[in-house]
Amino acid sequence: MDRRWREHRDSEGAVARRDQLRRRLATVIRRDDFEIPSLPEVAVELQRLVESSSANSNDALKVVQRDAQLSARVMRLACSPALRGAAPTTSLRDAVWRIGLRGLRDVAFAAALEQTFARGPLASRARDEAAHAFAVACGTALVARTLQISQDYAFLCGLMHDVGRLALLAALGSLSPQEQRWLHPEFVDALLDDFHEEVGARVLERWNLPPLTHGVAARHHDIGIEDSPTNRMRNAVAISDAAADCGAEARADRLVRLQAHDATLALSMPDILLERLLDVVDSAAEALG
Ligand SMILES: [Fe+2]
Ligand SMILES: [Fe+2]
Repeated sequence: MDRRWREHRDSEGAVARRDQLRRRLATVIRRDDFEIPSLPEVAVELQRLVESSSANSNDALKVVQRDAQLSARVMRLACSPALRGAAPTTSLRDAVWRIGLRGLRDVAFAAALEQTFARGPLASRARDEAAHAFAVACGTALVARTLQISQDYAFLCGLMHDVGRLALLAALGSLSPQEQRWLHPEFVDALLDDFHEEVGARVLERWNLPPLTHGVAARHHDIGIEDSPTNRMRNAVAISDAAADCGAEARADRLVRLQAHDATLALSMPDILLERLLDVVDSAAEALG
């Protein structure tokens, strides 16, 4: 970082402006005046179908067909090693049938995160956050499946755990160009760290997603000790988050770190599952394409 920029960043005026910005943001969040974009219609409709007792793959196919980008993602996913059956997938109908209604809802929400929040000057950071969210979602789905934690919303809880970070990035990206000057990366990091759980829970409530998703997003950096469905899911998200966050370290060091994690102990996770978790979070990006 160049010296002049560092002096500008650390000047009294800059510190005062950032304090002011921080207080303003805190007030907006507490008053629930935080602007939350709506979800793409296709994700809303697929969630409605998942909750309806009479919906089937044909209903889902009609919804997916209306969105070319989502159709392409569904085809790619159906051709991925995780879902490819003995015969190749040649039609969208076949792909929809293979992925299933809940899986389609999950793919639509994964696409929606990027579509909804990756805009403006902080878009590339939002894209990194969306990729992290997808890796954590895949990890949480694996942990839930293996430890018999409710699977219905495991992927979604992992996907949405940091949605508050995305919402905050979008809000900061919409500040005036003058205010953008005060947003150096360390300041943005501190804001996201401090506010993202609270903002995330509000986003998910506003989107009418199941209470389990808000409960997890609201406190996913705490380990739940008491045995309850929310705590088990929160711990599954926490360990997947830790696995996705230590990607730059050597594999053996990552494993040691996960073995010592409080969520591993709370869930009694065997080493073989931790190894598998590392594989899943590392290969998540390829799965969605
Ligand atoms: Fe987080
Ligand atoms: Fe995270």
